[in-house]
Amino acid sequence: MHFWVRDCEMTDYKVKDIGLAQEGRLLIDYAEKHMPVLMHLRKQHSDKKPLKNMRISGCLHVTKETAVLIESLRAMGAEVAWCGCNPLSTNDKVAAALAANNVPVFAWNGLNKEEYYWCIEKTLQYRPNLTLDDGADLIFTLHRKHEDLISNLYGGSEETTTGVIRVRAMSEDGALKYPIVAVNDAATKHMFDNVYGTGQSTFDGVLRASAILIAGKTVVISGYGFCGRGLAARARGFGADVIVTEVDPVKALQARMDGYRVMPMKQAAREGDLFITSTGMKDIINAEHMKVMKDGAILGNAGHYNVEINGSDLDSLSTGKKRVRPALDEYLLRDGRRLYLLGEGRLVNLVAAEGHPSEVMDLSFAAQMNAMLWLTLHGKTLKPAVYTFPEELDKQTAMAKLETMGIKIDKWTTEQTAYAKAYAEGT
Ligand SMILES: NC(=O)c1ccc[n+]([C@@H]2O[C@H](COP(=O)([O-])OP(=O)(O)OC[C@H]3O[C@@H](n4cnc5c(N)ncnc54)[C@H](O)[C@@H]3O)[C@@H](O)[C@H]2O)c1
Repeated sequence: MHFWVRDCEMTDYKVKDIGLAQEGRLLIDYAEKHMPVLMHLRKQHSDKKPLKNMRISGCLHVTKETAVLIESLRAMGAEVAWCGCNPLSTNDKVAAALAANNVPVFAWNGLNKEEYYWCIEKTLQYRPNLTLDDGADLIFTLHRKHEDLISNLYGGSEETTTGVIRVRAMSEDGALKYPIVAVNDAATKHMFDNVYGTGQSTFDGVLRASAILIAGKTVVISGYGFCGRGLAARARGFGADVIVTEVDPVKALQARMDGYRVMPMKQAAREGDLFITSTGMKDIINAEHMKVMKDGAILGNAGHYNVEINGSDLDSLSTGKKRVRPALDEYLLRDGRRLYLLGEGRLVNLVAAEGHPSEVMDLSFAAQMNAMLWLTLHGKTLKPAVYTFPEELDKQTAMAKLETMGIKIDKWTTEQTAYAKAYAEGT
């Protein structure tokens, strides 16, 4: 593999091929056109530069949408250094375009574990005042190996459900040393990105990798949280018979009343043609399930880490594997059946497709931008803990998005506002 590396005082980078920069720039320009809320925030703040003198180290999938976020943060005055948060999710064209625009970016598609952490270390060499994570690997590396950097920090933000669970666990353990904003907890993030983004882009990845017809198939969705709900709805839309597996009785009941079949994975394993996990938990599909699956079943994961489908179980049940299409590996099992694994068990929407569409990342990254602004103003006065957005900010973001979509909504009249507080009024 050939790498382009530049080392000079402030614009050090490592990407796969800087020659891809022009193609990457086209992708970024295209994404900008579909991210009006973020672009509006960029325009609104680029004169006053409220992030001036802030250094942001980010660890989040290097996609065209992330590039729009990075360039918006820079337009607001920040210095930004970046790496990807998954070894297989970097868009090399976008990484090249960022490097060509003097962003210190350390990211290429196909990293091994050692290279992955090298990229995080390079990003931390910029001695951040703010961190921006998706999965908390940078936050955790900073705590474990760079305690000296903690006094510089105003705070950090975390993008995804799994990362928020991780930083909350650190906080409960007394291990968290600086304030973190749980961006995933913003309603305008998890009710849209996780549901509609994951729902659509996961099927985009499944289809690019496998080219199967979904109609008439039995699709098993594990986890009926925000992502699972989006996945199940999209699978039904394609004409699949949808089965949901869950551990939470309330979510299981909700899935049933939404019209899906609900059963334990041991039973679903015998029925599914396509399996998609999105639980954030490990070992959702392991050897006992693989042993009873149909010949030709396809397995994919949309959860943050590659722990949901047990890869070592799949290896040990198989006599060999071969790559039959990009992001699709065929495993030949000892009993002659074949199972197919999408995207090496990593988030299939980013490995086999392009991640969430720009329109939905517009909301998630507006929340990231607001988190960076809020931490710049208040971070130094906050205790190390996990913080959530005020409801009002969510409403502002939703209203801004509606406006860009040309949608108007009603407002309470004075009488209605009074009625909402008039507890004495009944029948
Ligand atoms: N692919 C993407 O682009 C993308 C986007 C957003 C979130 N995520 C990730 O997807 C995962 C799910 O996120 P979410 O927001 O839907 O979380 P969530 O907490 O809303 O839902 C997870 C669901 O999984 C269920 N679950 C847990 N263990 C299970 C088990 N053993 N079997 C069946 N169900 C089980 C839980 O009860 C819960 O209902 C996380 O890892 C998150 O970080 C990925």
